[in-house]
Amino acid sequence: MNKKWWQNEVVYQIYPKSFFDSNNDGIGDIYGITQKLDYLKELGITMIWICPIYQSPMDDNGYDISDYENIHPDFGTKEDLEQLILEAKKRNIKLIMDLVINHTSDEHFWFQQALKDSKSPYRNYYIFKEGKDGHPPTNWRSVFGGSTWEKVPHEDNLYYFHSFSKKQPDLNWENPQMRQELYAMINRWLEKGIAGFRVDAINFIKKDQRFLDGDIDGSDQLSSCFDYCRNIPGLEVFFDEMRKETFDKYDCMTVSEAVGVDYPNVHSFIGEHGCFSMMFDFNYTNIDVENEDVFKPLNWSVKEYKELLFKSQTEIQKLGWSAPFLENHDQPRCVNKLIKDKKYHDYYGPTMLATMYFYLRGTPFIYQGQELGMLNFKRTSIEEFDDINAHAQYQRALEEGFRKEEAIEFLNNRSRDNSRTPFPWKDDLYGGFSKHQPWILMNENYHKINAMAQVQNPKSVYAYYQKMITIRQQSEYHDTLVYGTFEPLESDDEIICYKRCYAKQTVVVICNFSSQKKSIKMRSSIKKIILNNYRDIWFKECHLILNPYQSLVIEL
Ligand code: GLC
Ligand code: CA
Repeated sequence: MNKKWWQNEVVYQIYPKSFFDSNNDGIGDIYGITQKLDYLKELGITMIWICPIYQSPMDDNGYDISDYENIHPDFGTKEDLEQLILEAKKRNIKLIMDLVINHTSDEHFWFQQALKDSKSPYRNYYIFKEGKDGHPPTNWRSVFGGSTWEKVPHEDNLYYFHSFSKKQPDLNWENPQMRQELYAMINRWLEKGIAGFRVDAINFIKKDQRFLDGDIDGSDQLSSCFDYCRNIPGLEVFFDEMRKETFDKYDCMTVSEAVGVDYPNVHSFIGEHGCFSMMFDFNYTNIDVENEDVFKPLNWSVKEYKELLFKSQTEIQKLGWSAPFLENHDQPRCVNKLIKDKKYHDYYGPTMLATMYFYLRGTPFIYQGQELGMLNFKRTSIEEFDDINAHAQYQRALEEGFRKEEAIEFLNNRSRDNSRTPFPWKDDLYGGFSKHQPWILMNENYHKINAMAQVQNPKSVYAYYQKMITIRQQSEYHDTLVYGTFEPLESDDEIICYKRCYAKQTVVVICNFSSQKKSIKMRSSIKKIILNNYRDIWFKECHLILNPYQSLVIEL
């Protein structure tokens, strides 16, 4: 693969509502990000991805866009965004935006016109269909629960389609005119000097045009929509056109959300003929639940996790580039999800996880607060949850026969609110995020876990991330850690061990993914210890003895 500028980036994901509130109304904003650029610069990241800041009724916190061209006033103005781009550039930080083009808000002008007038050209911008025998056109369940079909008011038997909430009607990608409008919008944004996009739910844009019922798989008598509107053949035709009409005209970076993509199909996403620069592979991310339902927890093992992780790396390496991540705004905190022994939640767990994923082949993404080792936050009743999907999953769990307390427990482990609590800047009122009560409950552990405390402490999770970034970006190991090949190494089931090779250099990453001491046989001698989350390193004969959750990066 030819070298590309975006392989060199380290991306930091910002959930703007929860990052920093500059005007004390309880909601994070664009100027808040600008004020914290120095913190990000210090950390060492080179690019930020901001979740949607466009005009929106906020049914799904901005993933329901009512105007692609304007900024939501809670977040600020277009001038604020221009200033952010400029100030970021001064610090050599690039910016990518979220691109949400599978659906719009139902309050978007196009959809409003489509509803109002059946003769309007905008009708065909969305998916309208007649019901059958008093029922919706198909029995598909939307991602946020309930039917994917919503009845059109004042029409006898007409429904519109939504993969997500009913306030997020899906665009009709079969319509070329609609597609052209999207491409023009994308190009207008790229002209403004952003570096590219994170592309939302893009594998949903093609629907199975047969509109067949699926097998019922829940007490709601519905069938998961995934088999009918996600990763459907024909997707690649839309991808090709979009790429030619937009991304190809700019030297931009794009990263696609790509849940549930099988490896034989990744070539339409990435690589020489793929649409995007890189993709988020969720095949090892959603290891803890079945079919993304929080009430279907899975008892996963490190061995399985390792197999999925290695498969992802080796398959993607064959043709393209990946975007390793541990967290995002839809995931719980990785420490709670992946470190089973709570004793190690404060330092060794988070730093081991960091080492494990950060040196994989690909452009690493860090989600806000991950660099502090932030943890999930326990809530006690459903009213305390903000996320639309938390409410949907709660309802479904009850329908499936779980008790309320059980449903809350599922949400505490898995709800998207876990990663959306306000960023803890310091041990002060509302964690220094705002002087006003934040829009969502604060994680109460901010007294202990906060940026100020960690920036001052050379033994913090933050300091570890900083060191990790410096090694990837600026050390003599840069080429190997960025461009080197990935090779899995055999080891104990609970040790994750791999190497990166480039020219004559070999770097090995060893992670003890357990609370037991483990030993690993060393076949060659160690040239240098590049990184260690413990102070020391122990040997016995030809074996390295690893402490619980110890991680090492070494040169052989
Ligand atoms: C993506 C986003 C998620 C959103 C959904 C619908 O999965 O990451 O937050 O709810 O798309 O836009
Ligand atoms: Ca604000």
